[in-house]
Amino acid sequence: MPYPTERMRRLRKTGALRSMVQETRLHPSSLIYPLFVQEGKGIAEEISSMPGISRFSPDRLQAEIAEIASLGLGSVILFGIPDEKDPTGSAAFDENGVVQRAIRTIKQEAPEMVVITDVCLCEYTSHGHCGVLDGEEVANDATLDLLARMAVSHTEAGADMVAPSDMMDGRVRAIRSALDEGGFSDVPIMSYAAKFASAFYGPFREAAESTPAFGDRRSYQMDPANRREAMREIALDIEEGADIVMVKPALAYLDVLREARERFRHPLAAYNVSGEYAMVKAAAARGWIDEDRIVPEILTSIKRAGADLIITYFAKQMAGKLKVKGER
Ligand code: PBG
Repeated sequence: MPYPTERMRRLRKTGALRSMVQETRLHPSSLIYPLFVQEGKGIAEEISSMPGISRFSPDRLQAEIAEIASLGLGSVILFGIPDEKDPTGSAAFDENGVVQRAIRTIKQEAPEMVVITDVCLCEYTSHGHCGVLDGEEVANDATLDLLARMAVSHTEAGADMVAPSDMMDGRVRAIRSALDEGGFSDVPIMSYAAKFASAFYGPFREAAESTPAFGDRRSYQMDPANRREAMREIALDIEEGADIVMVKPALAYLDVLREARERFRHPLAAYNVSGEYAMVKAAAARGWIDEDRIVPEILTSIKRAGADLIITYFAKQMAGKLKVKGER
């Protein structure tokens, strides 16, 4: 039925029509907001490369959580910045660690909020790698037990879900068995299944003070060139017991998201990472792009590629916009 019978513009005529046929929609319930919690008191400090995003000490979290909840957001993911770092990252599984305390505060302020925790040692180790070292190598199997202890410790403090981001082999299975043995068989795991060794994590490493002291993460995170390998990573994490699988970063990896969506039935998350956020903020600050239009376009593209959930530093501002639109 070619032109003039078929006219694509018929359904684009008004806002109401366009809205009726819109295929992909954003909703606050599918956005996860990352929160950096820092050891100390009275801290609410903006991260210079991530305008609008701050690090909070646990005592300053209440107002932030109230605001997040009032915007209709239902979940946060926590990253901890401890005072003391050591070779094994032991502050990560201290029951009074910064994340453990933050979880209790959040649960008090907003019991319904789904509290997810990032499980990885890089913010806690003195050398900044995601596992313990054997010489200059990151030792895979010796790290598993520590990650499992960290996950159990977060769950004991009240976390609703744990999200391992370390990229050690076998960590999902190790965490699953430790949670089950600890009486937490009902706590889901969201695995950073296909996590690439990416330059887009730059601002996060400033925020979380987690830059490796030597070398890089390419012996455990994935080569950005490899899509087939990403499918193997996701399949393995599912076999090991992951409930939600993630692709990270998002924008330069939309093809990986799309293929994962087509191959797997599990809920799929995408991490719209710090560098993706910083680029938008920097260009918008110079008036080079229209942030109000670009943010929904970016988040829509991630959903359209196949993500059910998006971890994004834009979650608050996007939820705010959706709320205003809903009230109009
Ligand atoms: C920790 C972790 C990182 C991110 C999430 N969890 C950094 C890294 O792997 O170096 C990056 C998030 C972002 O850039 O927003 N392993």
